[in-house]
Amino acid sequence: MVQRLEGRVAVVTGGGSGIGLATVRRFGSEGAKVVVADLDPASGKAAADEAGGLFVQVDVTDEEQVKALFQTTVDTYGKLDIAFNNAGISPPDDDSILTTGIEAWERVQKVNLTSVYLCCKYAIPHMQANGKGSIINTASFVATMGAATSQISYTASKGGVLAMSRELGVQFAREGIRVNALSPGPVNTPLLRELFAKDPERAARRLVHVPLGRFAEPEEIAAAVAFLASDDSSFMTASNFLVDGGIAGAYVTPL
Ligand SMILES: NC(=O)c1ccc[n+]([C@@H]2O[C@H](COP(=O)([O-])OP(=O)(O)OC[C@H]3O[C@@H](n4cnc5c(N)ncnc54)[C@H](O)[C@@H]3O)[C@@H](O)[C@H]2O)c1
Repeated sequence: MVQRLEGRVAVVTGGGSGIGLATVRRFGSEGAKVVVADLDPASGKAAADEAGGLFVQVDVTDEEQVKALFQTTVDTYGKLDIAFNNAGISPPDDDSILTTGIEAWERVQKVNLTSVYLCCKYAIPHMQANGKGSIINTASFVATMGAATSQISYTASKGGVLAMSRELGVQFAREGIRVNALSPGPVNTPLLRELFAKDPERAARRLVHVPLGRFAEPEEIAAAVAFLASDDSSFMTASNFLVDGGIAGAYVTPL
């Protein structure tokens, strides 16, 4: 594996599972020191141990805990180079606007959008002190495209992540801090597999829109994150990096 992240210090929120876990492994294998931040201590600690990094139990919606996460990172490893703000939820009670209650709406906004605001707010000053940095915020292809299978708060939260990342990328560009949104297409995670195994029609309805004809593997998304984290993407900021199997570019897909 190339060592593009040798000597870099990275924080990954939601690093215990899915895209976050694959990224912790990828960052570790490219030479980074990785801090895994997750609500779940068992999976978060296992991920950190595997990458030879540090686990910090954090609820990313809690301002004091997020502030402490980045301070602990700098206290432990001396600086902060990379923040992958990735923790997010997509609960079943977030559905059509007609049936989604205010409680579900607010919970999803807090975990998916307010958390990214907090992580950027407390990561950026450390990057300013370091004279550089790369922030990657996980949005989604639904920030760019509409779905008739609505998850209204999730979609709105990811639109917010996309707009916030663009603005921060512009604001801090001349301080050497790059901020990009990562927009994955549907990823083959345990939750998705379970859902679609029970309901093949539900899977087919989505797969027909993917030109590549399959969902992404978490490792394919992690490879994109590592690119955005590394100097290989040194001229990219304020962008929406779609890793979506071609969904956003498609009208009619191959048979
Ligand atoms: N899986 C997909 O198809 C897909 C597609 C596009 C975007 N995304 C986005 O990618 C990100 C990761 O998704 P995933 O599928 O890997 O999810 P996942 O459920 O596998 O992992 C999410 C992790 O975040 C942690 N987490 C949840 N709430 C938290 C909180 N309040 N504080 C700290 N940690 C918390 C969980 O414990 C878990 O380890 C999310 O932002 C999601 O919206 C996922």
